[in-house]
Amino acid sequence: MSYVLGLDLGTSSLKGNLLDETGKTICIESVEYELLNPKSGYNEQNPNDWIQACYHLFGKFSKSVSDFTRNLEGISFSGQMHSLVLADHNGNVLRPAILWNDVRTTKQCKYITGTFGEEILKITKNVVLEGFTLPKILWVQENEPEVWKQVRKIFLPKDYLRYSLTGKFHMDYSDAAGTLLMDIKEKKWSPTILKQYNIPIEYLPKLVNSFEFIGNLDENIKERYGFKNNIKVFAGGADNAVSSLGVGLADPDTAIASIGTSGVFLSLEDSIHDKYKGSVHLFNHVLPNKYYSMGVTLSAGHSVSWFKNLIDKEQSYDKFLSNISDVPIGSNGLLFTPYISGERTPYFDSQIRASFIGLSHDHTLTDLKRAVIEGVTFSLKDSQVLMESLRKKNFNRIISIGGGAKNKEWLQIQADIFNTQVVNLEAEEGPGLGAAMIAAMGLDWFETFEDCIGRIINYVDKVDPIPENVEKYKRIYELYTKVYKSTKSITHKLRL
Ligand code: XUL
Repeated sequence: MSYVLGLDLGTSSLKGNLLDETGKTICIESVEYELLNPKSGYNEQNPNDWIQACYHLFGKFSKSVSDFTRNLEGISFSGQMHSLVLADHNGNVLRPAILWNDVRTTKQCKYITGTFGEEILKITKNVVLEGFTLPKILWVQENEPEVWKQVRKIFLPKDYLRYSLTGKFHMDYSDAAGTLLMDIKEKKWSPTILKQYNIPIEYLPKLVNSFEFIGNLDENIKERYGFKNNIKVFAGGADNAVSSLGVGLADPDTAIASIGTSGVFLSLEDSIHDKYKGSVHLFNHVLPNKYYSMGVTLSAGHSVSWFKNLIDKEQSYDKFLSNISDVPIGSNGLLFTPYISGERTPYFDSQIRASFIGLSHDHTLTDLKRAVIEGVTFSLKDSQVLMESLRKKNFNRIISIGGGAKNKEWLQIQADIFNTQVVNLEAEEGPGLGAAMIAAMGLDWFETFEDCIGRIINYVDKVDPIPENVEKYKRIYELYTKVYKSTKSITHKLRL
């Protein structure tokens, strides 16, 4: 039986998902690496750690799957978005990678937005944020000119890993869209943006589709690990796009509500348009000629873990949330806004902070827990409302993944707040599986994406909204949307 390997280059580890020809996951392995925090707000990683992690992963799979080296045929990738890797002409890394969650670039963002923001929005369909790649390049130009002088190659993480495995210098459209350097409609590096910021086009990789065959695995690596076949390496894509493939998103009437540390509300777009005006992200998808829009709740699961750890660090999430169904809708008149580290969509406000509104002497801890869960879901609803109102069409199904999919009551809360059917997955493997699916498609194992998704993805629970609950939540959500405006100036001043 032949295999493909999906590699998900995340922020804390490299995960591998081994898929066989029937679409069955054979084995999942992961190798962790270090996150460097040289200063507050700085998040960096050593790109060579990703390569070592990949070799380590090959070793792990060889041990756990006896015919891994004999039957592996293809590899593809999913990668953390936006993170900047700078290398010289020979591909030697010049400084640690500056990651997507590094916030040192506020000054550069203000400068770009103030002087060229309109143009950037027109070309890239996105507003300028600290996490994106362009402001990081400006930071290096300004603060480390001696490094910038030596730069000849600019990578994103998974492209650097692929380069180390094949010697080929490429980037796919879905990841390039998050750099703020690509014209997302024309699918070309934008000459206007590159000229504005003195970035020579030769420093940037060739742009390709996610399913494109890039080259074979380097002969030396092939020999070292004893791979028998010429292993075909395919481009892969940005983690959010690849993950959406890996949970079966294939039509624009379905959305994903993902609750990890941060929360993502994501939907597929058939064409590029100007309706959102930067209010949600709009990027190229890994599916050819498709796009996706995405709203982000900065602290989704993080709000829950923050609150749980305040109460009891040792307790499991299952136990912690086990009695939220004892509390009625609206948490007995209590509202929580999950802005513990600021908020992205819809406010783009890093200074706002969270609040419990309506606290009373007869509230219990369980009321507070439910209010946190409801507040996180209301924040994702903000992205849903933005998308639905601007595209003038409601979603008819939402795939719930992450923390929100694991608790039955939270699934019902989502269905009621989103007023849409919510489904969850039998096995949630997201980006690693999506990357393996890209390699499988690249090898022509499946005829169409629909066929590939249909063979691999299974949903288990289908939770429909309960009309009576929907009405109650509509009223509470109205109130929730007022909290930001009412607390903004207070929380901003509290932080001075
Ligand atoms: C998306 C973003 C994150 C990273 C995480 O804009 O910054 O979701 O892709 O890896």
